[in-house]
Amino acid sequence: MTYFEDIMHQLILCKVESPRLETRLLFAAATKREPSKVFPDIILNENERKQMESMLKQRLKHKPLDKILGHREFYKADFIVNTDVLSPRPDTEILVEKALQYMPENRCNVLDLGTGSGCIIESLLMEKTDAVGTAVDISEKSLNIARKNAENLKISERIKFVCADWFNDDIIEKLGQKYDIIVSNPPYIPTGEISKLEPEVKNYDPMVALDGGTDGLDSYRRIATIIRELLKKDGFILLEAGIGQATQIADIFIAQKLKPVEIVADLNNIPRCVILQK
Ligand SMILES: C[S@@+](CC[C@H](N)C(=O)[O-])C[C@H]1O[C@@H](n2cnc3c(N)ncnc32)[C@H](O)[C@@H]1O
Repeated sequence: MTYFEDIMHQLILCKVESPRLETRLLFAAATKREPSKVFPDIILNENERKQMESMLKQRLKHKPLDKILGHREFYKADFIVNTDVLSPRPDTEILVEKALQYMPENRCNVLDLGTGSGCIIESLLMEKTDAVGTAVDISEKSLNIARKNAENLKISERIKFVCADWFNDDIIEKLGQKYDIIVSNPPYIPTGEISKLEPEVKNYDPMVALDGGTDGLDSYRRIATIIRELLKKDGFILLEAGIGQATQIADIFIAQKLKPVEIVADLNNIPRCVILQK
């Protein structure tokens, strides 16, 4: 058995979903080469082997690969990630694609409620180069990561970071303006479901990014009560929804007199993005 096969075998026993791919990515990181240049007969020098063993140890404790490597691809860019932020999910890219369609052409002002790594708003600002935005999070640690991502993506001058809690009334004052478009992927896992999540998620994504209260919808209900003060007339809000939540989320916002626009499914055909207009 080669060293590559040995590592892959250990990942299989640990029930990693894509063991071959992850093995290749670990070897690529340890040897600082492109994944396409990693072959199963690869031989590592002493330092590379030490690095490999250290990463493998973490992966066998179910730390997700992106948080071991320290970065992850999302939409069209690479984002720094660590245990202070939710790892950006491919499901969320649909929200970015849709927001780009609904953003007004000129000098759009966008608000991201619960920015985490900054992946949503920063992807939007990279595409719309005259847009500006505000990224809100309750976690100062996650805002620090989002700031670093904005610097790497060279959009720092167009984005403001605000540490605020949307359950606190001072959020309106802290923001002090209305927006053309609001995007949000708030925590939506029902509290009782969290213990059933895979260890990669429940042990390594921040709890504040996951726990959505008893039915998972606490943050949507709260955001709905402040939305009219934050959204310009005719402005749009796009919200990510957990499985089976989209219609209930739409109803919560319709009760605050927003007009339903569309509910968009993700690549797995799960209704994922709820869009409404003021
Ligand atoms: C599901 S994560 C989404 C992160 C990122 N937008 C993404 O899509 O990958 C939810 C984010 O909301 C933030 N958050 C949770 N409760 C909050 C609150 N009451 N006020 C402000 N931000 C909050 C968390 O810290 C976390 O970064």
